[in-house]
Amino acid sequence: MAENVNTIGVLTSGGDAPGMNAAIRAVVRTALVNGKKVKGIMRGYHGMLEEKIIDMEASSVSDIIQRGGTILGTARCEEFTTKEGQEKGAAICKKHGIDGLVVIGGDGSFRGAQKLSHLGINTIGVPGTIDLDIACTEFTIGFDTAVNTAMEAIDKIRDTSTSHDRCSIIEVMGRHAGYIALWCGIANGAEDILLPERYNYDEQRIINHIIDSRKKGKKHHIIVNAEGIGHSSSMAKRIEAATGMETRATILGHMQRGGNPTCKDRVYATIMGSYAVDLLCQGKSNRVVAYKEGEYVDFEIDEALAMKKDISTYQYNVCRILSR
Ligand code: ADP
Ligand code: F6P
Repeated sequence: MAENVNTIGVLTSGGDAPGMNAAIRAVVRTALVNGKKVKGIMRGYHGMLEEKIIDMEASSVSDIIQRGGTILGTARCEEFTTKEGQEKGAAICKKHGIDGLVVIGGDGSFRGAQKLSHLGINTIGVPGTIDLDIACTEFTIGFDTAVNTAMEAIDKIRDTSTSHDRCSIIEVMGRHAGYIALWCGIANGAEDILLPERYNYDEQRIINHIIDSRKKGKKHHIIVNAEGIGHSSSMAKRIEAATGMETRATILGHMQRGGNPTCKDRVYATIMGSYAVDLLCQGKSNRVVAYKEGEYVDFEIDEALAMKKDISTYQYNVCRILSR
């Protein structure tokens, strides 16, 4: 159980995600309402080690709930993965009076949060990543916006793909996870979805599928390929050579990380930000906020990091059945 906190710090870490600003706003204003001081730490653990720390008022987070990105900036910081870096970070927090900290980021950022908790800084994680790859939660900030952005882009590619009788391979983000690919595969009615969790590198099966579909008169063939598999451009060349169907690859890239957050991302991020501050005010530390089975809940960071999750085989099969 943590001591009562007086000053709450907030940072965003890892890849940015639409909705992080809504979470920052909720953290700052909930903390102020509870009589705490609030400090913003710029550019994640990198800014912590460089003491890029600012005072935050209610007005510091005005007009940001609708904006993508993160007003605090974010970074990946190698130095913070070392014991020395973590001890330096904890000492800097103490120097600035930060005795409570909200870390908005993914699994990697939570590992940093766990270390800070063990070094006496009461720390709570809030899941922020477009990848949806945090095992303890069914929601991560940014996923909903990212899949909607990718879905709209794939709709556009489908128009031109159909006009030209082409096969299109669209590569979506997700690091090692296939959640964005799975959701786009279903939402875009893709003919094939390639997920790192399921793909067996049987390219001949895809080629046969394209040849069969052509015989049935299909005018396009959409393949949603996850970043974790990659190699979309070389795959396109091989598929074109084997099927005779013109094939183009599009890597959607960082456009998936930007843009105004959807309603869902704003609402869930807001509740999670407030929930994180409530945990600190209740004297809790070393926990992450999560959304599971219709409820906002929290887990010990160690327990959360040990959890595993996999994509739904049922959802994957539905997508494959419907594309036959
Ligand atoms: P994400 O938080 O989205 O998973 P990263 O894996 O890049 O993104 O992690 C973000 C940052 O968290 C890293 O750059 C590093 O500063 C910190 N971090 C990652 N792993 C650890 C670790 N094992 N111990 C301490 N800090 C870590
Ligand atoms: O974790 C979010 C994410 O966008 C992943 O989907 C992707 O693999 C990675 O970050 C890209 O990182 P960077 O912006 O550093 O290229």
